[in-house]
Amino acid sequence: MATPEEVNADMLAFWNGKGGDTWVARQDYTDITLSPVTDALLAFAAPRAGERVVDIGCGCGAPTLEFARAVAPSGRVAGLDISGPMLAEGKRRASAAGIANVDWRQADPATATLDEYDLLISAFGVMFFGDRVAAFSNMRRAAAPDARMALVCWRTLGENPWMEVPMTAAVQHLPPRPKPVPNAPGMFAFANPAHVTEVLTTAGWTPPRFEKLDMDLDIAAGLGLEEAVVQSTQIGAVNSWLRNQPAEVVSAVVDSLRETLAPYANHTSVRLPSAMWLISSAPA
Ligand SMILES: C[S@@+](CC[C@H](N)C(=O)[O-])C[C@H]1O[C@@H](n2cnc3c(N)ncnc32)[C@H](O)[C@@H]1O
Repeated sequence: MATPEEVNADMLAFWNGKGGDTWVARQDYTDITLSPVTDALLAFAAPRAGERVVDIGCGCGAPTLEFARAVAPSGRVAGLDISGPMLAEGKRRASAAGIANVDWRQADPATATLDEYDLLISAFGVMFFGDRVAAFSNMRRAAAPDARMALVCWRTLGENPWMEVPMTAAVQHLPPRPKPVPNAPGMFAFANPAHVTEVLTTAGWTPPRFEKLDMDLDIAAGLGLEEAVVQSTQIGAVNSWLRNQPAEVVSAVVDSLRETLAPYANHTSVRLPSAMWLISSAPA
């Protein structure tokens, strides 16, 4: 198993390389697919005007900008991420939207000195830390005494057909994969509530509350079956599996994805079920 340092180095390379570039190129579409999730996180976190928010793993800033609007005019959001290209895109989008109360910061939340905050949020940005307890301990240090935390993270792969269906279509064309390590850093690292509870309470947070968020996601972003096929090859596990595969394998996977996703298509949408945790906690 990789050491925390190896995990961090891999994540830094991925999110500043191919992974970050892909997210930047596809953010408009991903935003459409995930906009109901941003709405749910906003309702769950209930930001108040004037609050100081920190958004961990803010990426290109889809939730960051909504929280910035919610705490304006006197509140601010610190958007933290390790990815330079994604932060640059977030900054560009904020300026295009006339949003000036976000501080975009390229830093590792596990080690960075953070300013005091009232609300810590993250949409799918806390599952990649090499050492989760160290990261949440560091973030805990900057929390105001009455601060709140609100996260959204994926539940298990089996509960997320929007990801599992494309993976099943792809896997038949690919060499055997190593078995996933439970709770390993990555998309599903926060799926297990017992594990999340242990991480957070060890890091100085109260036992978290978990609320299920279940919704169908339109992986076509309203653009039809071909967009669903492209999106399935560009994010998540299928994307990493296709890296370095010969063209004929990629083409066989694309054909299978098209065939497998076709029954889910309805006009320009391709909706599949997804399952997330909304997780809240506070400094212990
Ligand atoms: C799935 S994207 C989510 C981006 C954004 N929150 C959104 O909802 O659009 C995951 C983000 O986590 C960031 N990330 C990965 N590892 C990180 C780490 N150790 N510290 C901070 N951010 C990290 C990535 O660079 C990426 O921006």
